[in-house]
Amino acid sequence: MLLSSLQSASFTMVASVGLAFVTILTVLVWLRHLASDIRIRKLGGVRAPILAGNLLSASKLYYEIGRNQYNNNLVAWCTAQLDNLPPGKRTFAEFSLTGSKRVLITRDPEQIKAILATNISSFGHGSMWHKLWRPFLGDGIFAVDGQLWHDSRAMIKPMFVRDRLRNLAIFDACTNKLLSKIPSAGVTVDLKDLFYRWSMDTTTEFLLGENVNSLDFPDNDVLNAMHVAQRIQMFIFVLNPIAPLIPKGDYYRAIRKIEEFIEPAITRTLAIPQARLEELSKLDMEFSFLHSIARYTRDPKVIRDQIMSVLLAGRDTTAATMSWAMYELSNYPKLWARLRREVINELGSHGTPTYEALKDLTYVKNILNETLRLHPAAPLNMRSVLETTTIPGRPGEPGVVLLKGDSVTINTLGMHTYADLYPPVSDTFADPRIFSPERWEHWTPKPWTYAPFSGGPRICAGQNFALTEMAFCLVRLAQRFESIEYRGDWAAQRLRADIIGTPALGVHVALYEPGEKPDLRFKRYAH
Ligand code: HEM
Repeated sequence: MLLSSLQSASFTMVASVGLAFVTILTVLVWLRHLASDIRIRKLGGVRAPILAGNLLSASKLYYEIGRNQYNNNLVAWCTAQLDNLPPGKRTFAEFSLTGSKRVLITRDPEQIKAILATNISSFGHGSMWHKLWRPFLGDGIFAVDGQLWHDSRAMIKPMFVRDRLRNLAIFDACTNKLLSKIPSAGVTVDLKDLFYRWSMDTTTEFLLGENVNSLDFPDNDVLNAMHVAQRIQMFIFVLNPIAPLIPKGDYYRAIRKIEEFIEPAITRTLAIPQARLEELSKLDMEFSFLHSIARYTRDPKVIRDQIMSVLLAGRDTTAATMSWAMYELSNYPKLWARLRREVINELGSHGTPTYEALKDLTYVKNILNETLRLHPAAPLNMRSVLETTTIPGRPGEPGVVLLKGDSVTINTLGMHTYADLYPPVSDTFADPRIFSPERWEHWTPKPWTYAPFSGGPRICAGQNFALTEMAFCLVRLAQRFESIEYRGDWAAQRLRADIIGTPALGVHVALYEPGEKPDLRFKRYAH
């Protein structure tokens, strides 16, 4: 009897304390919300429509974010939040768990232009990003803002400003190796796995003048280390409030493994006298990215940080885009046939593409543009608000105020598929949700409505390099294979967005050379 009354008393006490705690938190959040409201009004602007403005709704929303990230559905969920807003208000919205540090989700071209270009000084990756990524990227271009970013950009720019013959030779060698790994007719292969190895080899060769050769050695230590470092880095980033609790032994070991590959090349390069580096800079075929940075700095740590950043930037992006391109093309035999016709007409079945030839291949360019529209490698892009500022609101309405400490999620994929930004569907313009390279024959996107490489001063430094690399690979595939067959459930594919958006289920296909017969048991899902 005594025991049960004690139990009931302690239960009542715990419940009361819990209730008091939740009440205090709720009031605190409400007060912070009110404080932000007052500041926003004082600045003469407005808030974005609120998706979740109190503790309960924001907790539910964060739960949904976690659940959707886990189910490879985060980007679609993000877009659905905007689609569910009232008509005419579907381009941006905000939420906040604590009442301050709001998150703005936007697919509004005018806002994106302000964030990335016209008002860029108010935005950046921010100090939290820098801190969380520091063990991996150090002070490399991807991790920094302000002067450090300016210096980084100046350091890496020279290697991207002109078409280099050396790059074509790298694309040729690595793509030939890739082709040699694709099995003969009827055998299923996961192209995504091959593309990730191909881009690792291409990027390391470009950066260091030697590659990890992961196409020959899939179990390569550096390749595995890259996977581990990126996977744990993503956890650290997404779960940043509890980042100190995440075990990091594997993370540091993986970073060390990558450094062990990079460091000897840096040491060798730093041993080259400056005068010899100047001479090398005139020899296109022998001058690597590493040589180029060593002309700017002799500090091995600065060089290491830039190499890590460009490795991260250049590897997954092209691999994911090529995976999506082949995923889409495997479902549309007529498009593959058209691509192959263009390539064979211009280059024959074995001709090696030059820069000029690649620029003339309009259909190849349209396929890449369309792939990057429907599957941008960075479907969501993040920015921190570094100083309080106002960005455009809806036409004719006051601007939207962002306070220092807020953050912005640019929903690039949401913008690329938002029908209101497109011409009406017609014979020459397919529904924006459908893969249709043909639309590019009659249409040019309005400024800031198509931004797979971002825009403004921080636009992708490797855009030209990436487009040439991918066009080269597509040409070689089209020269060799007459048809592709998807081996799996095409419609079940999902977008996994661990920073870079990649096909979650891989791209399992069979490719056929001329004369080999497609296996008719495998049906396609849409035409
Ligand atoms: C399909 C291929 C690619 C896509 C879609 C892509 C996209 C992007 C995007 C969206 C950004 C901006 C990131 C941000 O705002 O935080 C970016 C930045 C960057 N990209 Fe790419 N990228 C690709 C390939 C490459 C390649 C191959 C390289 C180098 C070899 C590269 C080097 C860089 C660098 C250095 C930056 C940082 C620029 C800066 O902050 O100033 N990218 N890229």
